[in-house]
Amino acid sequence: MDTACFKEELKNRVAEIENVISSYLPAEEGMASKVFEAMNYSVLAGGKRLRPMLVLETYKMFSGDNFPIIPEAVSAAMAAIECIHTYSLVHDDLPAMDNDEYRRGRLTTWKVYGDAIGILAGDGLLNYAFEILNSAAVKEFEKSDIVMAERLVRASAVLSKKAGSFGMIGGQTADLLVEGKGAAVSIDELLFIHKHKTACLIEAALMMGAILGGAGESDIKAIEQCGYNIGIAFQIQDDILDIIGNTEELGKKVGSDAANDKVTYVTLKGLEQSQKDVEKLSNEAAEILGKIDGDHDFLDALVMSLVNRRK
Ligand code: IPE
Ligand code: IPE
Ligand code: MG
Ligand code: MG
Ligand code: MG
Repeated sequence: MDTACFKEELKNRVAEIENVISSYLPAEEGMASKVFEAMNYSVLAGGKRLRPMLVLETYKMFSGDNFPIIPEAVSAAMAAIECIHTYSLVHDDLPAMDNDEYRRGRLTTWKVYGDAIGILAGDGLLNYAFEILNSAAVKEFEKSDIVMAERLVRASAVLSKKAGSFGMIGGQTADLLVEGKGAAVSIDELLFIHKHKTACLIEAALMMGAILGGAGESDIKAIEQCGYNIGIAFQIQDDILDIIGNTEELGKKVGSDAANDKVTYVTLKGLEQSQKDVEKLSNEAAEILGKIDGDHDFLDALVMSLVNRRK
């Protein structure tokens, strides 16, 4: 796939995903409308929509389904994972965590709504993700599509584990605990952090798409490994961009890691080695995809585009 074609395809997919996500967002009404407002503010701020895109592409690869209309079970999974991801960002930006004021090109949720509503909006998105997924499973049961209902339950189990304290929350905890420890942190400890805080959700995206697409156990294992490679590469690049990126392009302030005395891949390995490792991990991810049957041209191009991403 050439660059122009990829860019066009990417634009179309982001627009399609935005529509899917918007269709699930809560109405801003009632006595608790403030929390819905803050949830929608965070989700609708934009972002790359990488995780729902990975769900959709992996689903298509395994199912062979290329219908113009996305099945409801898949759109539910796409919306759910973006809610979880957005909640992780809302909480990550709080003063008690990274204390950041800009995200996705606008003020962070806590800056606009205050810490308390920021916390509640994050909690709201977390629960809403599982409300979307579990309601979708109930709907499939009611339609007697037991196969899809069961796949949704499995996908939900994966998401809850990968996002929870054995996954993303665990990684965020470890990330905070090593703040200020500098070179005393080993590369294995840093990889624990990157695996958990970031790779776990990317693994979940690919695994959910695979499960909904009917992949078998060995393919789900392979795609989990692929997600690990993409996820670690993604966080290393995030660490790189925090140093050499551009605030305008990124939509978040550069230098946040240094301001918080964070240990990052770049502080441990240096810029040049970090860039090499992003490329190596991405090539390994592409190799895994290469062994899977089904159409993954766009997915390959997406993975490789992340190597030189500027945002
Ligand atoms: C930011 O994720 C947090 C990390 C895991 C590095 P993204 O870079 O995917 O953020 P958005 O969704 O595009 O805003
Ligand atoms: C956060 O990593 C990963 C999450 C689980 C939110 P960072 O703290 O580096 O993410 P950014 O740079 O604020 O997006
Ligand atoms: Mg952080
Ligand atoms: Mg942060
Ligand atoms: Mg960062």
